[in-house]
Amino acid sequence: MTGRAHVRHLLKVSDLEPQEILDIFELTEKVRRDPEDYGERLSRKTVGLLFEKASTRTRLSFESGVHQMGGDTVFMGGDSQLSRGETIEDTARVMSGYLDLIVIRTFGHDRIERFAQKSGIPVINGLTDGHHPCQALSDFSFVLKETGKVRGIRMAYIGDGNNMAHSLMEAAALLGVHLVVSTPSGYAPEAEILRWSKEMARKTGGSVEWMTDPKEAAKEARVLYTDVWTSMGQEAESTIREQAFFGYQINREVLSIADPDAIVLHCLPAYRGKEITEEILEGPRSRVFEQAENRLHLQKALMLYCKGKG
Ligand code: CP
Ligand code: NVA
Repeated sequence: MTGRAHVRHLLKVSDLEPQEILDIFELTEKVRRDPEDYGERLSRKTVGLLFEKASTRTRLSFESGVHQMGGDTVFMGGDSQLSRGETIEDTARVMSGYLDLIVIRTFGHDRIERFAQKSGIPVINGLTDGHHPCQALSDFSFVLKETGKVRGIRMAYIGDGNNMAHSLMEAAALLGVHLVVSTPSGYAPEAEILRWSKEMARKTGGSVEWMTDPKEAAKEARVLYTDVWTSMGQEAESTIREQAFFGYQINREVLSIADPDAIVLHCLPAYRGKEITEEILEGPRSRVFEQAENRLHLQKALMLYCKGKG
């Protein structure tokens, strides 16, 4: 984890060591099994949520998780003084005086890094343009619960080389997963994240590959994963993206190429008929709603970990 001497931030998955991820997964299972044992862990603590983009799952799962552990939350949307030009650094120093932990959803990843630099309290990334670590960590803890393993498991991600792809790549690399990311050529994941993930995967016994052919990627995958073609902030590109991503869809044909026991994941929100068909999203292989629920448990564990209360 990165952070000033005594502050644990989670800005991207690669802030964590493999053992830290496994510790968080273990804590997730304890929190899931015996939630009442953790009912006072955040008592007299206030968690802020500073969200400059829309959210359903992240906001609600963090807010519910804090309340279930006896804490309070304060939500701030796009109407803070940041929108009128107050600096991120001043905002971070002010908010550190009022809160015990903060979850931030914003645009450029550099914004959350600047905040964390000046923050005296743990900062958790609730999604930036570059990373979505809470989702990826939750998804691998869900895969572990669902299939009994993560190390050595084969996953195919089909879609955009976006924040979700980046965080899945970093997590796969650290956990020894075999991940193939398939995107159109103009929408590949960031080269530096691919390089880092390949190198890390070599050390953990996994592999991270990028290719353009979604059917090749799906071969023997035990987990098929997709995300929206147009992320928040890219709405002006949606028409051109729909053309570019044609064929990068999880559908009956792609599922038939995967492992016969394959499960289908999607971080949601989903756009039926675009990145995934209605039939697959609602079909017997889909686990997307159980996957969404898992955010609650994983993030409770993550907050305790960041606060040193695990
Ligand atoms: N998957 C996810 O982060 O959903 P929200 O955008 O609704 O928070
Ligand atoms: N890639 C998507 C994820 C939404 C949870 C976005 O950034 O909009």
